[in-house]
Amino acid sequence: LKMIRWLGHSAFEITTSNDKSILIDPWIDNPSSPIRLDDISKADLVLVTHDHFDHVGNTVDICKRTNAVVVTNPETANKLSRSGVKKVIGMNIGGSIEPMDGVKVTMVQAFHSSESGCPAGFLLHIDGKIIYHAGDTGIFSSMELLGDLYDIDVALIPIGSVFTMDPYQAAKSLRLLKPDVV
Ligand code: NI
Repeated sequence: LKMIRWLGHSAFEITTSNDKSILIDPWIDNPSSPIRLDDISKADLVLVTHDHFDHVGNTVDICKRTNAVVVTNPETANKLSRSGVKKVIGMNIGGSIEPMDGVKVTMVQAFHSSESGCPAGFLLHIDGKIIYHAGDTGIFSSMELLGDLYDIDVALIPIGSVFTMDPYQAAKSLRLLKPDVV
């Protein structure tokens, strides 16, 4: 694991030790993003937690220019397919896949809504580390189960309130998830 970079909002870029580039919820047009869409010349894997514009974001554009594989819920995967994304993999909560060598993706629940399919979070197993991206969610007690099942190294969680949990709930969620770094 070489780098985890916040791209504003819920968007993150993860670079693996062999320089594979993973984007999560790539809404690169968001006001806090340190980069512009044109800066993305390479992406290998795109993960979309749920179908809201600020999470699907620039997925279609990015996949058309980079030929990246998208992993998301089956219904959103179908929708992206119809929008011209060539490589889509649908999966559902509880499942794990290995969309590229050395990168395992586990889909877990999130309490939220989605224009298609079911909202989710992701656990990424990369280079012996476990990264949890919660997507948009409120706090839920099964976060304790996730913390028991997985030795989470890094947790990426929302604190926005209104549409997700707020800082008060998010602080408590960390006692359940027990990550090393948040
Ligand atoms: Ni949302």
